[in-house]
Amino acid sequence: MKTQYYTASSLDGFIADRDNSLEWLFQFGEGPTSDYPGFIKAVGAIAMGSTTYEWLLSHQIYPETGPQQPWPYDQPTWVFTTRVLREIPGADIRFVRGDVRTVHEQMVSAAGGRNVWIVGGGDLVGQFHDHGLLDEIIVTFASVTLGGGAPLLPRAIVSPPLRLVAAQPYGTGFVQLTYEVPSGRK
Ligand SMILES: NC(=O)c1ccc[n+]([C@@H]2O[C@H](COP(=O)([O-])OP(=O)(O)OC[C@H]3O[C@@H](n4cnc5c(N)ncnc54)[C@H](OP(=O)(O)O)[C@@H]3O)[C@@H](O)[C@H]2O)c1
Repeated sequence: MKTQYYTASSLDGFIADRDNSLEWLFQFGEGPTSDYPGFIKAVGAIAMGSTTYEWLLSHQIYPETGPQQPWPYDQPTWVFTTRVLREIPGADIRFVRGDVRTVHEQMVSAAGGRNVWIVGGGDLVGQFHDHGLLDEIIVTFASVTLGGGAPLLPRAIVSPPLRLVAAQPYGTGFVQLTYEVPSGRK
């Protein structure tokens, strides 16, 4: 069982642009890499911050234009927020706040031996890393730079450095890098 940060990023380290848009990513079409079905199958619990959740609400679940899509995850999902957010009937979503350690314990228990996925944003992933709870970072870097936006992982991880365990190019648009986080779980 691993706690993973799986995401897509611009080459200069942003997971959304300054307007919280992902158009830079979607210009390549959906599913830039072929590994997502295998990845998500091994995930037993999911966490995300409120900006990411609200992006899903406004772009996929309740879009202003276009068809509504169902909540994309079967796994129980913890959404971090200090506010009261719109709920999605039928989706297993738990709104939480504060210390990530207690939530991580609940996630590991619910995951039943499968992996825990921290969807983002970067600071929330950083909070898990601050407590030694992040095991792996899988980033698909798109061949674009954004110059600013939501940071990939606003933490200094210098010594020991991350350990690169895989590098997989996908055409001219993407390269996926997989890193082990050496501090691991404490
Ligand atoms: N490229 C990709 O594949 C990818 C993946 C994921 C996300 N994204 C995008 O990247 C952007 C990320 O946005 P973001 O950096 O603002 O991150 P975020 O983690 O989605 O949202 C940050 C918010 O989460 C809440 N939060 C975080 N930690 C908390 C804690 N311990 N307790 C209570 N609440 C907590 C706070 O919300 P409140 O103000 O509600 O308290 C905080 O303002 C979004 O636009 C998202 O759509 C892209």
